[in-house]
Amino acid sequence: MKAIIQNEDGGQLSVSEIPVPKPGKGEVLVKMIASPINPSDLAFLRGGYGPEKTFPVVPGFEGSGIVVASGGGILPKLRLGKTVACAATPKKQGCWAEYMVTSAASCVPLPPEVSAEQGSMMFVNPMTALAFFDIHHSFSKEKGKKIGIINTAAASTLGQMIIKLANREKIPLISVIRREEQIETLKNAGAEFVLNSEAPDFDETLKILAAKLDAMLVFDAVGGKLSGRLLNAVPSGSRMYIYGRLSAEECSFNPSGFISQEKQVKGFLLNHWLKNAGLLKKLQTINTVKKLLKNDFSSSVHRKFSPEEISEAIDDYKNNMSKGKVIIRF
Ligand SMILES: NC(=O)c1ccc[n+]([C@@H]2O[C@H](COP(=O)([O-])OP(=O)(O)OC[C@H]3O[C@@H](n4cnc5c(N)ncnc54)[C@H](OP(=O)(O)O)[C@@H]3O)[C@@H](O)[C@H]2O)c1
Repeated sequence: MKAIIQNEDGGQLSVSEIPVPKPGKGEVLVKMIASPINPSDLAFLRGGYGPEKTFPVVPGFEGSGIVVASGGGILPKLRLGKTVACAATPKKQGCWAEYMVTSAASCVPLPPEVSAEQGSMMFVNPMTALAFFDIHHSFSKEKGKKIGIINTAAASTLGQMIIKLANREKIPLISVIRREEQIETLKNAGAEFVLNSEAPDFDETLKILAAKLDAMLVFDAVGGKLSGRLLNAVPSGSRMYIYGRLSAEECSFNPSGFISQEKQVKGFLLNHWLKNAGLLKKLQTINTVKKLLKNDFSSSVHRKFSPEEISEAIDDYKNNMSKGKVIIRF
């Protein structure tokens, strides 16, 4: 089969012919249709992120396809012939190939009204958006009031899902972007409060707005200096989750935020959240994602590429992240 492979961390990607993998018990063979490029894929390609790799490695954390073989077991047999959203299994090869072996539990049959392309983006962002609102419910309960949220890199696919969910649940949300033109885009998408982190009055405006909206829960995908500025601006007792490192810079914080204002900083990784959520919440989350895939959770697609065009696809994605997802079609 044709597969996109990488031979070393940070190395060039190429297309090679490799054997079609065989599914073991509890696993299925998926004939891949589509897979997006996400920031987590870029981090995986750079190295130092994701499960341990054995080179040559096939990247790609999520995708969609048709289950064409079962390795045995009840769930794999039930999945046979279904068009599914699928996630790569740690220590196995990823989604960027004509075929992928993964555990049947990592495959979710797609509703007929959802395209394989939209289905290929079902896991990473929609489930993270729902996880954030689950965290919000618990944190609001802990604080005894409905608190507001601040989210950064808000013009991202995930950021736009968060805007829709916040509107649906009537939760005050401050969306932070870094390009002035994105203010209008996000307002048109339904955002009420959008702040540009590059504006000279950003820190002061954020401080005033966060106090007004009780915005004590921060989700930061950027890191670097922005994390420290956000933490300075939010009310005492706030909590910040760092869920991305788009700036690639180390975070810096003023220690008095932790000492006298009882602010907290935590990390968020979807896989860990799912592991801790338990089976019932996981199934409920998957069901909600399936229901919302056609509307709140539909991701805009900027361009599609063949596997042979992978280098161009990655460059295009890096240069136009806010224009929508770049998809590899198999
Ligand atoms: N921890 C987890 O489990 C988890 C799960 C899902 C997603 N995520 C994270 O969520 C974030 C969004 O993912 P996505 O797939 O929705 O992204 P996306 O649609 O591909 O968009 C990426 C966004 O990041 C912005 N960006 C890039 N570099 C930036 C920088 N240095 N400073 C500020 N903004 C920057 C881009 O805005 P510009 O137009 O300004 O470039 C763009 O809007 C990523 O960091 C991803 O890793 C984490």
